[in-house]
Amino acid sequence: MSQFDVVVIGAGPGGYIAAIRAAQLGFKTACIDAGVNKAGDAPALGGTCLNVGCIPSKALLQSSEHFHAAQHDFAEHGITVGDVKFDAAKMIERKDGIVTKLTGGIKFLFQKNKVESLFGKGSLKGRNGDLWQVEVENKGEKSVVEAKHVIVATGSVPRPLPLIEIDNVNVLDNEGALNLTEVPKKLGVIGSGVIGLEMGSVWKRVGSEVTILEAMPTFLAAADQQIAKEAFKVFTKEQGLVIELGVKLNEIKNDKNGVTVSYEVGGAAKTETFDKLIVSIGRIPNTEGLNAEGVGLEKDERGFIKVDGECRTNLPNVWAIGDVVRGPMLAHKASDEGVAVAERIAGQKPHLDFNTIPFVIYTDPEIAWVGKTEEQLKAEGVEYKKGTSGFAANGRALGLGKAKGTVKVLACAKTDRVLGVHMIGPMVSELVAEGVMSMEFSASSEDIARIVHAHPTLSEVLHEAALAADKRALHG
Ligand code: FAD
Ligand code: NAI
Repeated sequence: MSQFDVVVIGAGPGGYIAAIRAAQLGFKTACIDAGVNKAGDAPALGGTCLNVGCIPSKALLQSSEHFHAAQHDFAEHGITVGDVKFDAAKMIERKDGIVTKLTGGIKFLFQKNKVESLFGKGSLKGRNGDLWQVEVENKGEKSVVEAKHVIVATGSVPRPLPLIEIDNVNVLDNEGALNLTEVPKKLGVIGSGVIGLEMGSVWKRVGSEVTILEAMPTFLAAADQQIAKEAFKVFTKEQGLVIELGVKLNEIKNDKNGVTVSYEVGGAAKTETFDKLIVSIGRIPNTEGLNAEGVGLEKDERGFIKVDGECRTNLPNVWAIGDVVRGPMLAHKASDEGVAVAERIAGQKPHLDFNTIPFVIYTDPEIAWVGKTEEQLKAEGVEYKKGTSGFAANGRALGLGKAKGTVKVLACAKTDRVLGVHMIGPMVSELVAEGVMSMEFSASSEDIARIVHAHPTLSEVLHEAALAADKRALHG
């Protein structure tokens, strides 16, 4: 029987990174993963993120943005392109190519770092002295490996909607939404969260009429509401996404006429029939087949594996990271927890600050933030000051043809320490890193204001917002 220092279950961005880091620290490491490629005929490492999440969605966002730009934006640059055509199947093929390249890249990284890659479903069997026994099952064939430490990184799956079953033909989860080879004329989306907005944007740009039905009365409740309100206006008024808030779903039927959704909104009953319906109402932790109950691995009331602040479960030397534990369901959070756990096993003292984990929504304009929102600061009774600045007069944004959006810096009224940075605008997915860095180094808004920012860049808007926090904006 093979023995390892560390066995990781799951090779998503949490698990594969944990395995690589553990191996780099000198541990004999194996990573078990059951993921298969789109064709279902070969193992595919990388989990949700690489196969059916972050990476494929960003590929589609880029393709659809190009198509939209060719149709609507090129003319003002003096470029005539004639009759622009769109081939959804080709877009999906390109996306699949990127996925294959990156999932193959992990295989290579495992080889390079001497991580043993085991294909199959991993489950905790029990203890043999100080070692954990982990069963690996592949098409009915079972083997057992032993490990001093087990890191559970089994990720998450889409939250089901009791009203309708996902068939990934007409009623789609993230997998189906990323694989449409024809543009649906009418697309419905349940949930105006991150997936709803990103996938809604993709299909809207290439010609679908998109209606998003959201249960909450507030749009993007987790985001700073000044930014959320600006986003709502752009998405609905300028881009034509129909977003209904405060919706109560009554019935969904999937038949030869399409997918018919009956719902109530603002006291009125409505019915819409869509060609396709994406259900994106959040994700739930995945512990299926892990035998958590059998070995007494504790979960919370929502099904997340219970961990302490350092990702220790209730079982000795069993750790859990990523989407299967509390905290934001984000790839970078999963990876950083993976690194931290590997380093803790090695006796190091890493620290991961949840308050400085950045959030990004890859719409156009993009939305990004780090730290506290104004609403949170008010609720916590923290006295703060704020500075805002827009992209409208930023030279680089104008050159890009994307001069829309706002950056807001929130800082402590007494100490000036940066407490939050919120943005909507071009490439703010990249710009937010400066906010993260500032907060990690306990910077003041004055620190950002005194740092030289290259000209002309989008980062000048953050600079200007920091100046504004001190009431000395130069362009405001
Ligand atoms: P996962 O990536 O879910 O990986 C878990 C792995 O474990 C899978 O490979 C699974 O096959 C395997 N597994 C499960 N059980 C077993 C078992 N018993 N035995 C063996 N293997 C098992 N996050 C971002 O930060 N940025 C984004 O832009 C972004 N976009 C997204 C877009 C979409 C459409 C979706 C759905 C998600 C997106 N996310 C994004 C979220 C991100 O994908 C997840 O937060 C991240 O993948 C979680 O990583 P993980 O390692 O915890 O789990
Ligand atoms: P989400 O949590 O972002 O949004 C789900 C939305 O559905 C919420 O607004 C919720 O109020 C709504 N909802 C729930 N039940 C409903 C119902 N019955 N009727 C109508 N609306 C309902 O979840 P989503 O979009 O499914 O994404 C899952 C997770 O994947 C995200 O939480 C995020 O962690 C991750 N993700 C991250 C991305 C990024 O970082 N750019 C991109 C996509 C996903």
